[in-house]
Amino acid sequence: MEDQAVEFSLRPRYLAEYIGQAQAKENLKIYIEAAKLRKEALDHVLLYGPPGLGKTTLSNIIANELGVNIRTTSGPAIERPGDLAAILTNLQENDVLFIDEIHRLHRTVEEVLYPAMEDYALDIIIGKGPSARSVRLDLPPFTLVGATTRAGLLSAPLRDRFGVVSRLEYYTVDELTFIVSRAADILQVQIVGEAAREIGKRSRGTPRIANRLLKRVRDFAQVRGDGVITLDIARMALKLIQVDELGLDEVDHKMLRAIIGSFQGGPVGLDTIAATIGEESQTIEDVYEPYLLQIGFLQRTPRGRVVTPQAYAHLNIPMPDRS
Ligand code: ADE
Repeated sequence: MEDQAVEFSLRPRYLAEYIGQAQAKENLKIYIEAAKLRKEALDHVLLYGPPGLGKTTLSNIIANELGVNIRTTSGPAIERPGDLAAILTNLQENDVLFIDEIHRLHRTVEEVLYPAMEDYALDIIIGKGPSARSVRLDLPPFTLVGATTRAGLLSAPLRDRFGVVSRLEYYTVDELTFIVSRAADILQVQIVGEAAREIGKRSRGTPRIANRLLKRVRDFAQVRGDGVITLDIARMALKLIQVDELGLDEVDHKMLRAIIGSFQGGPVGLDTIAATIGEESQTIEDVYEPYLLQIGFLQRTPRGRVVTPQAYAHLNIPMPDRS
C-alpha cells in the first residue's frame, strides 16, 4: 500500500478504537448519543490544538458514530461565499461539514456561515442596486466541525457559534505506546513492547509522528534485521533519522542552537529565529514551538523567545555566565 493509504487505514473509525483524549472523547460520546436519541443534528463542534493530535480523525469518527455523511474542506479552499453556498445546499439532513484550518476562512465567507450555523439558513442577495433584495433559503440541519491549531485567531462571533469546544491535548507515552502497537498490528509488523514504548517516548506527544516513526523504523527492521522491530533496531533507526531521546528532530535542535549561539539564549523574536534557521515563522509557531514550550525548553516572553536551563542541559551546552 502507498504511504497515504496506510496512513488512512491506521486511523480509528469509531470512538471505541480511539486511544487518548479521554475528556474530549467522553463528552463527545454523550453529545452524539443525545443527538441520535433526539434525531437531531449534533451541535457544532470546534476542535483545536497542535497539529497531528487527531482533529481530522475525530471529525470522521463523529460522522461515523452519527451514521451520517461527512463533507471535508478547509478554510482557504473556500474562496467565495458561493463556494460555501454550493457545499451547504448539497448537504443531507444531519450531515457533518468538516472545515479544517477554519481560522483561515475569508471574512466574506465567514459571514455566510453565521446564519447557516445559527438558523440553518442561507441569505442570498438577488439583483443589483435599488432593486436588490435578500432572500432566505432554508438548509438541512447539519453539524459544522471546525478544526484549528489557533483558536485565538478565530473571530469571536464565529467561536461563539460552536456549542461544543474541545481542546485536544498532547498524548501520554502510555497512550502513544498503545497507538504504536495498534498500528504495528494493522501493518502486520512484529514489534516488542519496549520498542513500541521507545517510539512512543520519542513522538512528541503526537500520534501522527508516532505512526511516521513506526513506518521508518519498520524499514530499518526489514532491511537491516529480520523484520521484527526490537529495541536495538528501534534505537538504531531513530538515531539514524536524527530523532533524539525526547523526540526532538533536526529542526528543533537547529532552532535551540540558533537562539543559544546567535542570541545568547534570547529573548529573540519569532521572525528573527525563522530567518536565522530558514523556516517559516508560521511553521515554527504551529509545529515546533508548542512542544518545546510544553516540555519547558522554551519560554515566550513579551520580548521574545528564551531558551531555558533545561534545554541547555539537554543539549549539553554550558549556560552563559550572566554575572
Ligand atoms: N492513530 C492515530 N491516532 C490514534 C488514536 N488517537 N487512537 C488510535 N489510533 C490512532
